[in-house]
Amino acid sequence: MSKLTVKDVPVEGKRVFLRVDFNVPLSPEGKVLDDFKIRASLPTINYLLEKNARLILASHLGRPKGKVVEDLRMAPVAGELSRLLGREVLTVREVVGAEAEKAVQSLSPGGVLLLENLRFEPGEEKNDPALAEAFSRMADLFVNDAFGTAHRAHASNCGISSFLPAVAGLLMDRELLYLSKSRENPERPLTAILGGKKVADKIGVIRFFMEQADYLLLGGAMANTFLRARGFSLGNSLYEEDKLAVAEEILQGADSSRAKIIIPVDVTVTEELRRGAPFKVVKAEEIPEGWSAVDLGPETIKIFKDAIAASKMVIWNGPLGAYEFPPFNRGTQEVAEAVANSGAQSIIGGGDIVAALQDLGLAEKFTHLSTGGGAVLEYWEGKVLPGLDALREKAN
Ligand code: 3PG
Repeated sequence: MSKLTVKDVPVEGKRVFLRVDFNVPLSPEGKVLDDFKIRASLPTINYLLEKNARLILASHLGRPKGKVVEDLRMAPVAGELSRLLGREVLTVREVVGAEAEKAVQSLSPGGVLLLENLRFEPGEEKNDPALAEAFSRMADLFVNDAFGTAHRAHASNCGISSFLPAVAGLLMDRELLYLSKSRENPERPLTAILGGKKVADKIGVIRFFMEQADYLLLGGAMANTFLRARGFSLGNSLYEEDKLAVAEEILQGADSSRAKIIIPVDVTVTEELRRGAPFKVVKAEEIPEGWSAVDLGPETIKIFKDAIAASKMVIWNGPLGAYEFPPFNRGTQEVAEAVANSGAQSIIGGGDIVAALQDLGLAEKFTHLSTGGGAVLEYWEGKVLPGLDALREKAN
């Protein structure tokens, strides 16, 4: 699947509706806490500015559900973008309407406008054609750089493509390059590392990589459900009772799957989940009453590292322990260092694991860090992503 990109179409002087995913965390005072997603779209923005396009940027922020929520206005994001670009970013306090149209008309070549939070409009999440048409009237071209929202069928990333030529931005193109390679044409041996809290989010991805990867390493609280499915007592550890049957089925399939499936053989346990809490390491089948498994143990880390050392490509989604509470970030950190130093291509599915790698100061060391959370999982699972589907294909 190869999509036309912003480099394949004339953009000089055009009005471009650029859908970005600037859904970034804000502090209670309205400060952008992590600008990773904003920086990720700078190549597209700068390319268009070099071509003297007039940029109408549009993003959602949080989940205001069709209503104006003061704490979710885009102004702080515009401030951060302006700082990163070193130029003025105009804002309006509405998504569509007279004020927005006036601001668009006043845009000169090389001008940048950030519309208000798209999800303040009830029509956005309903993929309302009237709203999509209103977006299209502002512009000559639609460019989608919001990979993180590609699994949603909304007016600003799907509906609009019925009214304007729709092409991918450079971030979208980069995401597709690495994610499609990892899914369809991986370097081998391929290791897939899946962690995080819930098996529920990752069943499709586990099933896919059972047959596609050479090693499938399971960690995080999600792995507890597999330990329980093996019949082990978990003390107070988190696990999903309603996913035990699926976990059992996956483990039963392990003998005939392509991937060698590895679940923890030892775990780090604590009585109290907080920074610096006392802990001990126990065998996975010996978690004591009253204690919770919150990280991998050293033997498991070593087994994970051996698989990584034998691999030419690693894909990874989800932290391997309660990384927000050091020292329970040890599994995530040691495995991250092993991946970074292995020489393997490393494709990191976004969300919590990207935040964890940033906290650890390791984010720059990987081949590709995706900006998608749910979108990456749905892509790897093989679902059609409506936001991608809406973009024009390259002729060949
Ligand atoms: C994300 O943060 O994963 C994307 O911005 C999508 O957000 P959503 O899950 O609210 O649609």
